[in-house]
Amino acid sequence: MLSKPRIRAAGESDLDAMTQLIGGLFALEPDFSFDPAKVRRGLGLLLARETAAALWVAELGGRVVAMCSAQIVISTAEGGPVAWVEDMVVDPDLRGQGIGRLLLDAVSAWAVRRGLSRLQLLADCENEAALGFYRRLGWRSTRLVCLRLRPGQ
Ligand SMILES: CC(C)(COP(=O)(O)OP(=O)(O)OC[C@H]1O[C@@H](n2cnc3c(N)ncnc32)[C@H](O)[C@@H]1OP(=O)(O)O)[C@@H](O)C(=O)NCCC(=O)NCCS
Repeated sequence: MLSKPRIRAAGESDLDAMTQLIGGLFALEPDFSFDPAKVRRGLGLLLARETAAALWVAELGGRVVAMCSAQIVISTAEGGPVAWVEDMVVDPDLRGQGIGRLLLDAVSAWAVRRGLSRLQLLADCENEAALGFYRRLGWRSTRLVCLRLRPGQ
């Protein structure tokens, strides 16, 4: 990598770039279909939830090349706040150069500042590249599986 990316909090001006990055992420995850308008609306809602959520981007050469989000929930098991990490994606041309690690370092530092006792995430069970990445950074699998219901349908 020519220069080190800058990790910073995302803002409204990053919405287009983040929406595009999430399009690339959802292409790898059959559980999600990409609707740019919905993604943009969701990102806007996250940006507005200043105390319970955070969004980071990696900027390189003035361009947003990666992103990640986190949302705080209360865990009864932990007796306090924990966070879900989502939307972790690096521009395909820049993967494997340490940007993902920098983003998760920022998430961890934020979690410590916020007094969060645990971070958790969901990953596609066939996304071996991502699973290898997380394991390398110390994340461990659990016995939990994800179930979904669309209420009222
Ligand atoms: C997964 C992803 C976010 C990782 O980001 P990245 O910038 O490519 O990863 P990094 O270069 O920061 O890698 C960090 C460390 O993990 C290691 N690593 C990365 N992929 C790995 C793999 N498949 N197996 C083992 N180690 C791996 C790297 O070697 C590096 O180790 P080091 O810092 O000790 O040298 C990125 O590849 C990506 O955007 N993938 C597509 C989207 C995606 O799957 N997102 C996850 C959704 S749950």
